[in-house]
Amino acid sequence: MFTEARLDKRLPVRGLGSPLHFYETIGSTNDRAADLARQGSPHGTLVVADEQTQGRGRAGRVWNTAAGTALAYSLVLRPAGDPDLSDPQGMNVLGALAVVDYLRELGAQAGIKWPNDVLLAGRKVAGVLAEASWMGDRLEWIVLGTGVNIRRGSVPPRTEISYPAISLDQGLGRELDRGEVLVGVLDSLGHWLGIAGTKEYRDSVLDRLAFLGEQVEVSGGDRRMHGTLEGIDAAGRLELRTAEGKLMVISAEEFQLVPRDFDP
Ligand code: BTN
Repeated sequence: MFTEARLDKRLPVRGLGSPLHFYETIGSTNDRAADLARQGSPHGTLVVADEQTQGRGRAGRVWNTAAGTALAYSLVLRPAGDPDLSDPQGMNVLGALAVVDYLRELGAQAGIKWPNDVLLAGRKVAGVLAEASWMGDRLEWIVLGTGVNIRRGSVPPRTEISYPAISLDQGLGRELDRGEVLVGVLDSLGHWLGIAGTKEYRDSVLDRLAFLGEQVEVSGGDRRMHGTLEGIDAAGRLELRTAEGKLMVISAEEFQLVPRDFDP
């Protein structure tokens, strides 16, 4: 059972998950976490909901969560000065890395799909949405929201999504308790938060990056670029080498990445 009392017993993990705000149903856990952050709630504050009715994805997309099917949570983070953590784009990558590593510990084939997706067996199983608040040039807080498809009922119909999706139980062939997944991902997140920006961190991101060294297409608005995926820089920007040999550094914004001959 996914209940507040059960979760409360297992949290915090590595300083993440306290205080815990659990909701049977809510609009968006990111919106609630941002409200709490504005009210001064500390680093590690966690908002979890069984059902989200106005969940948000990147670039204004909808991310709803039906009761009993998925994991939807948001953390308030107050990073202490590390430049890699002061950028929502970099935090999206860190949030995805945390989920990927947890899944790899379970023996799953998982990877980061830039800028904020987690792939399991080549399909999207989770998405991350980091949002920041600044006071002048001082970062006040970041809300790091994550949605994980746990049961089949959480996978939207193919017509509603731009990339094939999968649930954790489909990908693993067994059912996991949502609380167990949450605790595992927070443990992984706490580890990477502690060493973000180090060589180990950057190497790990590259090691888990889907399509590294492969031909990809990056598109957004009326722009479409092709090239070899060379990596991600410290700020979470994509490095793409064009056929002419030019290195393009691309911010996430409205862009989305697919393999070169992608056929949904
Ligand atoms: C994406 O793939 O575009 C990102 C999806 C992020 C969804 C999560 S679910 C928990 C948190 N609350 C939200 O409103 N969004 C994030």
